[in-house]
Amino acid sequence: MNNQPAFDALAASYDRAFTETIIGRRLRWQVQARLERLFPPGSRVLELGCGTGEDALHLARRGVRVLATDASPAMLAVARGKLEGCALAQVEQLDLQSLPQAFPGVSETARFDGVFSNFGALNCLQDWQPLAAWLAARIRPGGAAAFGVMSPLCLWEPLWHGLRGDWRTAARRWRQPAVFQPTPEAEPTLIYYPSIRRLTRAFAPAFRRIYVQPLGVFLPTSDAFGAVEKRPRLLGRLLWLDERLGQARLLAPFADHYWIEFQRRPEG
Ligand SMILES: C[S@@+](CC[C@H](N)C(=O)[O-])C[C@H]1O[C@@H](n2cnc3c(N)ncnc32)[C@H](O)[C@@H]1O
Repeated sequence: MNNQPAFDALAASYDRAFTETIIGRRLRWQVQARLERLFPPGSRVLELGCGTGEDALHLARRGVRVLATDASPAMLAVARGKLEGCALAQVEQLDLQSLPQAFPGVSETARFDGVFSNFGALNCLQDWQPLAAWLAARIRPGGAAAFGVMSPLCLWEPLWHGLRGDWRTAARRWRQPAVFQPTPEAEPTLIYYPSIRRLTRAFAPAFRRIYVQPLGVFLPTSDAFGAVEKRPRLLGRLLWLDERLGQARLLAPFADHYWIEFQRRPEG
């Protein structure tokens, strides 16, 4: 029976398969450098799709108060274990597909200094306007909204899977939505790949785009991490290329993920 939420099936292996890999660490390090610029110690921040809580832990250790949220009970359980004893981090369930009016810790007078979501949680939505409107009421004017989003034109994926004859996977971002089903027991979940322009338009009423950067232009997508990390020379060259050439703003649409930052517009 397909009744396990898709991301629950990933929770136990997620850190081993992604967070603790050499490439996963490099990508997360790039994101955390941006998060540190946006959210100084003392900020109060909402995280969407926190997964196993790695970024919440990083920020909380730096003095940022984080409300880490996710839809998946199994991911939340791992995050709670990791964040246990961390006074600045709180973990709550929040499904981006059914955003509640009332939410703990938020009111007209106590808004967040910012919101972020890393590595693809926003790709589980088909329409980003409801999220942008919901966030507009919960982020203070001048506050930041920052997202790591799987891009529709990633160069690596069609190349890697095309060369191996897997055309279906090679073309999945162009033919979106893709179907994500990590195990036979997991419920199939649809994945959408918004362009930078599309996301910017959805957020435009209340948020001004201020920054875009590629994340992993020359690095493989996570399904190829294992194969590439087994080849140290290839891995070394790709890391070198990505560090030297993969940071150019113009390459953001061709990376596995792009990182996009907005600023909440003043009200009235
Ligand atoms: C690839 S993981 C990224 C996790 C984490 N942000 C990180 O940096 O490792 C995507 C996360 O999005 C969450 N997610 C998927 N759909 C969601 C939804 N509708 N609402 C909230 N979270 C969702 C999943 O449960 C999963 O934890």
